[in-house]
Amino acid sequence: MENVIALSQKLSKASVKRYSNPYLEFDWPDSLPQDGWFFSPELSSLYATPVYNTLSEAQKKRLAFWELVNFFSLNIHGEKALLQGLSQRLYSHWPAEISDYLHHFLGEENKHMTLFGTFCSRYANKIYPSKAYSLKEEQVHSVEDFLFFARVVIFEEFVDFYNLYMAKDDRLHSLCRAINQYHHNDESRHLAFGRKITQQLYAANSEDWGQDTINSIRRYLGDYIQATWKEYYNPWVYKDAGLSDYYETYLTAWRHKNQQQLRHKISAHCLEFFVNSGIFAEEPVL
Ligand SMILES: [Fe+2]
Ligand SMILES: [Fe+2]
Repeated sequence: MENVIALSQKLSKASVKRYSNPYLEFDWPDSLPQDGWFFSPELSSLYATPVYNTLSEAQKKRLAFWELVNFFSLNIHGEKALLQGLSQRLYSHWPAEISDYLHHFLGEENKHMTLFGTFCSRYANKIYPSKAYSLKEEQVHSVEDFLFFARVVIFEEFVDFYNLYMAKDDRLHSLCRAINQYHHNDESRHLAFGRKITQQLYAANSEDWGQDTINSIRRYLGDYIQATWKEYYNPWVYKDAGLSDYYETYLTAWRHKNQQQLRHKISAHCLEFFVNSGIFAEEPVL
């Protein structure tokens, strides 16, 4: 745990230095323009599928707005699980320096949720429900800890790709860019911590777990990656965007080769980490 302790101390200092107050930083207009972009079109879950090309510019913008609401909703659900898991691990069997950093991690996630929640409640009047994937069987403690942080890395790696892309996309409404930028600023620290502790927990325990447990961990994380991706394809988004045959659209988009390529591109950095750390023997199917 030595290297996790050193990193926790460094990240705690950085979190203090970058401590922010989103309640003062953000202005929330009463309403948003109907003709603006709220999600980068190339990241849309329908982009480069047959139905996308039939849409007018106005329909694409409407779809983009609901894609953003879905993206923010899945952030909220992921962060709710994150708050639970992080608070469970405060002052547990790990050194105090780790708890110090977990306090920052928790505080920052809580602030993210208020931003995502305010946006969705105010401008969409809804948060899409979660299709969350949960672990059914009880696991030994070290496996639970490892899987928790491995899930955090997967969830945050995917989200961060979108955040970074949209923060830089000057077609997007300034509020949308600002929320994405704000989230990315904290996520770079969370990811550094998540990667380090995931690697450490695997290195320290995998010999004791044995091959059967390692195989089931690999299967579980592969399934978790698939389930995480499926949350980006939401038939209710297509319905709210005014598309007919929204369930059919969902199935077609999920299976389309261009979307599969997009998922590969976005997942590449994350999968490389899991393969290079020896956690995955090979990349899972996306
Ligand atoms: Fe977050
Ligand atoms: Fe985070």
